[in-house]
Amino acid sequence: MDKKGAFVAVSYAIILGSVVYFSGNSISTAADINAKELYMTHCKTCHGEDGKPTDLGLGLEARDFTSPEWQAQISDEKIIKQINDGTPEKMFPFKEKLSQEEIKALVPIVRGFGKK
Ligand code: HEC
Repeated sequence: MDKKGAFVAVSYAIILGSVVYFSGNSISTAADINAKELYMTHCKTCHGEDGKPTDLGLGLEARDFTSPEWQAQISDEKIIKQINDGTPEKMFPFKEKLSQEEIKALVPIVRGFGKK
């Protein structure tokens, strides 16, 4: 292979690599997920800006995320499961809408409401 051939081969490898990388399902890494923004976009309507349920949330019986009792009895796994699966007629599932990384990133946000 001459010099030019090698250059072309390397360029191809880079292009191919980026195509595979950017077309992947989970292009977002933990670092570029803005969990607070995700919460404000998808959760605030029912769970409130500060974790206290809105009137809409209250009507559907959403919990108060600022309650120490609620924080104490729920596990991270349950929070993740709830965001994934939702509750029929109350909270819609987010597993189609958000990536697993994004859902996991929301756990500390929900936890954060419990800390004064
Ligand atoms: C349409 C209103 C609505 C939206 C939007 C919504 N929720 Fe909920 N959520 C609820 C209701 C209602 C409940 C109570 C469900 C139940 O009693 O099973 C709930 C329950 C929860 C629970 C706790 C369940 C438990 O076992 O105590 C968590 C955690 C939660 N939601 C997180 C989120 C997050 C994070 C988002 C955004 C990605 C979100 N919710 C979006 C209405 C909503």
